[in-house]
Amino acid sequence: MEKIIDSEITLKQISRDFAHDLFILVQKNKNGNLCYWCPDLKKTYASLETTFTHINDANSKFEADKTPDFVIFYKGIIAGLISLSPINSGNLTSEIGYWLGSEYEGLGIISRSFPFVLDYAKDVLQLKAIELSTSIPNIRSQKLPINFKFQKVRTIPNAEILEDGKVDHILWRREF
Ligand SMILES: CC(C)(COP(=O)(O)OP(=O)(O)OC[C@H]1O[C@@H](n2cnc3c(N)ncnc32)[C@H](O)[C@@H]1OP(=O)(O)O)[C@@H](O)C(=O)NCCC(=O)NCCS
Repeated sequence: MEKIIDSEITLKQISRDFAHDLFILVQKNKNGNLCYWCPDLKKTYASLETTFTHINDANSKFEADKTPDFVIFYKGIIAGLISLSPINSGNLTSEIGYWLGSEYEGLGIISRSFPFVLDYAKDVLQLKAIELSTSIPNIRSQKLPINFKFQKVRTIPNAEILEDGKVDHILWRREF
């Protein structure tokens, strides 16, 4: 699956063809903003082998319930990822996740990609709502749920361990 968002951004469903460039992007950002806020990426993309494992898992997830992982191409180059987690069949929701290499921050890439992924969740997957979890100190990431009119559901104490210690998350939700 492939979606041209605009003249600069294309989303392509994750595939093994992108393993090398995804791995290099995370390695380049290992000591920067990206892996500070998303420390799990260091494990997911620790080697080409773990990257392939992650891509296989994402493809199995898609086969199971059609929730995609989209690699974000900015001007033809891999810049990051935006994805939906497995559907919670109990309440028909999924969680949206996203990240960019630091050189691609602040260009509106996630803001421009968001509407397509929300529409996919609503129209193709026919979900009732989308959730999103952001750590409280990650102000930049919180702009996305705020701008896209998500509601705060609750605070999740000690949800994640960053380099500087434990942080609380906010769980956000947008009903369709
Ligand atoms: C958080 C992140 C996904 C935001 O994506 P982005 O494409 O940079 O965001 P956008 O350019 O679409 O902008 C979204 C908002 O953030 C603001 N913003 C973007 N870059 C910013 C920066 N460097 N400093 C402060 N605000 C910034 C924008 O101004 C915009 O808010 P506004 O509409 O009120 O002006 C991206 O910066 C990133 O991947 N960061 C590192 C990893 C991470 O935090 N992932 C999310 C974990 S939940």
